[in-house]
Order: sequence, then structure tokens, then C-alpha cells
Amino acid sequence: MTRRVLTGITTSGTPHLGNYAGAIRPAIAASRQAGVESFFFLADYHALIHTADPAQVQRFTLEIAAAWLAAGLDPDQVWFYRQSDIPEVLELTWLLACVASKGLLNRAHAYKAATESNFTAGVDPDAGVSMGLFLYPVLMAADILLFKANSVPVGRDQAQHIEMARDMAGRFNHRYGELLVLPEAAIDDSVATLPGLDGRKMSKRYGNGIALFAPAAELRKRIFSIVTDSRAPGEPKEAEGSALFRLYQAFATPGETAAMRSAFAAGIAWGEAKQALFERIDAAVAPMRSRYQSLIADPAAIEKRLQEGATRARAIATPFLRELRDAAGLRRLS
Ligand code: TRP
Repeated sequence: MTRRVLTGITTSGTPHLGNYAGAIRPAIAASRQAGVESFFFLADYHALIHTADPAQVQRFTLEIAAAWLAAGLDPDQVWFYRQSDIPEVLELTWLLACVASKGLLNRAHAYKAATESNFTAGVDPDAGVSMGLFLYPVLMAADILLFKANSVPVGRDQAQHIEMARDMAGRFNHRYGELLVLPEAAIDDSVATLPGLDGRKMSKRYGNGIALFAPAAELRKRIFSIVTDSRAPGEPKEAEGSALFRLYQAFATPGETAAMRSAFAAGIAWGEAKQALFERIDAAVAPMRSRYQSLIADPAAIEKRLQEGATRARAIATPFLRELRDAAGLRRLS
């Protein structure tokens, strides 16, 4: 039995080290396993929820597509496409919106956080909340269910969305027959959720990221701006809980990691640890960085790849959506 693995990255920022270590690198590794069919896409409809600048949406789509390819994705071995090239995603979004309960969506983390901070600020709970933000989990469920994904590798923060997709799939199936596959979140705790410069999760939302393909000098500068405490050289430092150490671990072999752990205990100077971190990350990304530069210089070639990907994805999506429409009664009269 083949297993379908599907994941998307929202095109609302320049790809950072966290996207690479947390999503791109493990996804590409998993796609090389036998018996796995992989679906990787650029979630540009999701980007519109957060990004109002059209040029940025386009630019980040190019950058994230180039990042996947530079990281070694072979688009002939997987389904690699742009969400907005698949109109069936939006059609399914509506079918799912009509089975999703509003109460379920009220509990989605992103929406709840927005209404709670409005409440604290003493303004209307829905102030500044778009229907796009509210429907975010429905769009995401459509991404997943359209391709009958079995497994969705995501960070822990996205687990709730997979639960919601299961809920919607269950309700749809209950009403119309067993058509949708219930997906599972694949949350791999050995996969790094990278901390950012300030120690919180690396995220474009917090502005604490380190761009994956920044020039070496900039990479070094960002790494040297990681927040550390005031412990002096020679004072022992704990590896556990240190953002610097966790970043190092995400790019190092177990042997290198063990050596760094001892260096922390022996009181390595923060500056020295930062230099070692820079060298480790730079060694890992340098070969990808040069591939990335040439990819990004030729958007037409990437566009062609995405078009081919969309054709292959729609070969699956179009007939399946026809089945779903039919089941819901959207049918010819005779
Ligand atoms: N919401 C995801 C994120 O921001 C991106 C995403 C959109 C996604 N659709 C998806 C991930 C479907 C997995 C499956 O990280």
C-alpha cells in the first residue's frame, strides 16, 4: 500500500532556517522512501490571509519554490504545485464549509487568539478579523482532503488544524458516503522546531528568523545577534534550553552535537559558540545557496515546473472533485 504524504508552506515570507529544518528537509527525506507518494505545495491562498502586498506574494512564492528545489526536491518524483493553480481546492473549501460547524472554527487557535486580544483591548471581538482568517482551517482541510492524504507532517502548532480536517471529513462522509480519507498529523519530535534569535519559535510572524539563503556575511551577523545571557567565558553553560545549542544540533551530526554539549559544560565563550554555529550552518547551506541563486534568476523555469506540477495534480483532483460534487447533489438533471 502506498501512503500519501502532503504538506504545504505558506508563501508569506522569505524561507528561513526553521522552514528548512522543520519542513523542507524532513519532507524531502521522507519523499525518497519506497511506498510514499508526496504532495508538496506552495500555499499562496493562505498567504493572502496575512499579506496584502501582491508583489510580495509573488516574490515569496518564487523564493519558496526555489528553496524546495535548491534543497534537493526532485519534482518528477513528487507532486509539486502551487495551491492557487488548483481551482478544485476552492470548490472543496465550499463543500467543506457547508459541513463544518461554526463552533468548531470558533475554537481555532489563530482566530481565538485574535478575538481574545480584541477582548483584552476592549474592542469588538472580530475587529480586524477577515473571513479568510476564520476559514483558514477549512481551506487547509481542502488542501489535505482533495488528495486523500494519509499523513500530514506539520509542526505541533498545526496539529489542531489536522484534527479539524478529520472532523470535517467525518461529517462529510457521514452525510454523503465514505469518500474522504481521514488524515493524520505526523508530528515528529525528533524534527527540529527551531528557535529564532529571541528563543521563541522561529517564525516570520515574530521577525526572529534567519533567512535560509542569506549571504554568508549576513548569516554570520544574524547568528551573532542571537540573544544569550551574561555568563562569561569559562562559566559552564547549559545546552538544554539554549537556542544556540538547539540551532547547532539541527545542523550537526550526533558526534558534533555531543562535542558541543561538552564545550558548553566546559564554559565555551558565547562568541566562540556562535562562530562554531555559523560555520556549521554555512557548511550545510552553502551548496544549496548557490543552486538557489541560479534558480531564482530564472523564474520562467520554475514557473514551467509549477505548471507541470499543476497538470499532474489536477489529473487527480478534477475527477475526484467531480465525484464529490455528484455525491452532494451537484449533478446533471438527467
Ligand atoms: N498552515 C500551514 C502553515 O502555515 C501551511 C499549510 C496550508 C498546510 N495548507 C496545508 C500544511 C496543508 C499542511 C497541509 O504552516
